[in-house]
Amino acid sequence: MKILKRIQEIKNIGNNRQLYNEQWVETKKALERYAIEDGLKVSEDIIGNLFCRLEGYNRSKTISIISHFDSVENGGAYDGIVGILAGIEALGMLKKKFGTPEVSLEVICIAEEEGARFKTTFLGCRALFGDLKYENLKRLKDKQNISFFKAREVIGLKPFSQKELDRCQRNDIITAIELHVEQSRYLEKTQIPIGICTHIPGQMKIRMVIVGEANHAGTTPMFERKDALCCAAKIISFVEHLGIKYEGVTTTGYTINAKNATNIIPSKVELIHDMRHHDPEVFNQMLEDLTNYAKREEEKRGVHIEFEKLVKIEPVELSTEINEQIKKVTRQIGLRQMEFKSGAGHDVQIMSSHDIPSGLIFIPSVEGISHRMEEYTKNEDIVNGLNVLALTIKNLSYG
Ligand code: GLV
Ligand code: MN
Ligand code: MN
Ligand code: MN
Repeated sequence: MKILKRIQEIKNIGNNRQLYNEQWVETKKALERYAIEDGLKVSEDIIGNLFCRLEGYNRSKTISIISHFDSVENGGAYDGIVGILAGIEALGMLKKKFGTPEVSLEVICIAEEEGARFKTTFLGCRALFGDLKYENLKRLKDKQNISFFKAREVIGLKPFSQKELDRCQRNDIITAIELHVEQSRYLEKTQIPIGICTHIPGQMKIRMVIVGEANHAGTTPMFERKDALCCAAKIISFVEHLGIKYEGVTTTGYTINAKNATNIIPSKVELIHDMRHHDPEVFNQMLEDLTNYAKREEEKRGVHIEFEKLVKIEPVELSTEINEQIKKVTRQIGLRQMEFKSGAGHDVQIMSSHDIPSGLIFIPSVEGISHRMEEYTKNEDIVNGLNVLALTIKNLSYG
């Protein structure tokens, strides 16, 4: 199958495919080439989402196979990419074997899901639903202080207005399906080749900028300090505590201590917290608890804390109808399967939150490793995933 060779080619481009950087551009070109090779019609929206279409008799309804081609910093070649490559090959196979489908089929190669460069997740998919605001995009900056629009300019992409951004919106998608590597170990441990995802957790990214006061580390008494890093340390521990207390998952993975010197009291620290939970009420409770805790620390220490909700996507339950279709196909092919909840965020989460019936198929990740170069999924598992995806799409779209 072509997918195995194509994964290697993407791997060779590199493992830093972040929005609008060189590797991202190269990856997009490769995906475009594969789609054309497989007989699909390719177009692009203003954000950089790539659409690989097979038109059906009814062009006003589309079944979308969705996944992302950006990666985290030093990520792997499977997260996101496998779903796109499987989708392209599946549509190519269906076209060749069965011709024109009843409704249109398309692979949406999402430009940005990880939030790796500009710290805001699901940009690509949110554009499809009018959830992006020009004013917010204008404020985004990467680690090198390069703005979102400057990054576009560097690779020759034009600026755009809110009106043009709004044109990314879609109202023809009737179903969305994603194939993704599992990124945990349920399948590997049980030796089951296909996972069916029932729920995706809510995910929020909370940015905090703690502003204290720089002063001499030797001469400033302990109780006269406004140490932004000590305040950050308390807050980071509290975030961890929330994950444990509520049985969710919480991480503070992004931190900047502006001065970072040995003998100056830290005056400014930036943090981004990632908090996730499957229960909508608990998800919101975690945010309330964090807000209250930060306020108490602010008062106690005399620091100032800026608080910004970068992203907040509610938990979703995926479509039982679509999951039934996937299960039926998996049985037909003769593969074992199991249902479980996702820990990671996925593009179908955005689809589902806009009431589009959506399904998510998992294939095993070796040792559950992901968001690292060592990420790996065996060839036979990729082929199984592609077969389940292709047959599910066929059943949904050919009369
Ligand atoms: C995406 O991979 C996420 O869940 O952070
Ligand atoms: Mn990821
Ligand atoms: Mn992913
Ligand atoms: Mn995904």
